Amino acid sequence: SDEPTKLRREDSIAQEIDMEDTHQSTSSQMSTLSQALKSGTAESHTAAENVHFVKNFIKGIIDRELYMELVTGLYHTYLTLEKLLNLHGPKHFPSLHFPEELSRTEALKEDMEFWHGINWESKPQCRIPSPAVKDYIDRMEEVGRIDPLLLLSHAYTRYLGDLSGGKVLSRIARRALHLDGYNGLQFYQFESIPSAKLFKDKYRSALDDLALKPDQIGRLVAEANVAFALNMRVFEELDVSGRVPGARVRDVREALVYYDREIEN
Ligand code: HEM
Repeated sequence: SDEPTKLRREDSIAQEIDMEDTHQSTSSQMSTLSQALKSGTAESHTAAENVHFVKNFIKGIIDRELYMELVTGLYHTYLTLEKLLNLHGPKHFPSLHFPEELSRTEALKEDMEFWHGINWESKPQCRIPSPAVKDYIDRMEEVGRIDPLLLLSHAYTRYLGDLSGGKVLSRIARRALHLDGYNGLQFYQFESIPSAKLFKDKYRSALDDLALKPDQIGRLVAEANVAFALNMRVFEELDVSGRVPGARVRDVREALVYYDREIEN
């Protein structure tokens, strides 16, 4: 297929760095939720890595203006994600609710102040989420209303990603943007998580201990793919802002097809 999102797993940078990734499973032989999420989003992960903004970021090609826009998007995203997790987590997935360890809202408020100044909360470019971020937020709100368990897919997609790439991205951003220590980079600092690897293992075991039915696993994987696609749209929007030739934000309906497709299977 020549669709841009249908990238081969061999194109994945993550695959090269990922030492744990030795046991691939296909959807027919998937056993646990953590494996289903990992293998079921592998294509989306590769596609996300291949968005121009993401590729440039890991090459150290990022400017302050674009970084400020990224941080603003993350701020709005985590504000909504964590509001919803705090609302539904204790009832729907208490064993996977880790506000102490994972919450990013406070860190992002500090980063917003660093990047946009002390009066950031009164600036329109800080208050108003971009269209792609708004779509992402709206989807999480809808999931919270209709099927709160699926908020787990949104938590998984962001937090496990942050814990996997955060250290590297933080170092790259510090160098590229000439930052000092963790100023402007609080987002990447998980102060209550001494070992990302151990925490991710704990998180995956908790996912597997949920003992869900296959149809619930299918819906969680589908929603994780939606989350990836919504993140990709945010990166595509940054490409449009950065005047990358040919950049465009895919239609939001294209992000939601994952859900419909997996449900049919
Ligand atoms: C896992 C690299 C972009 C979400 C990983 C892992 C690596 C990696 C090496 C495996 C770590 C492990 O298994 O312990 C990268 C690189 C990226 C990138 C190099 C960009 C160039 C993204 C993006 C997202 C994301 C944009 C989502 C918005 C995830 C998730 C996992 C993960 C959810 C956990 C997979 C699992 O174990 O179930 N990434 N990543 N990544 N990444 Fe990324």
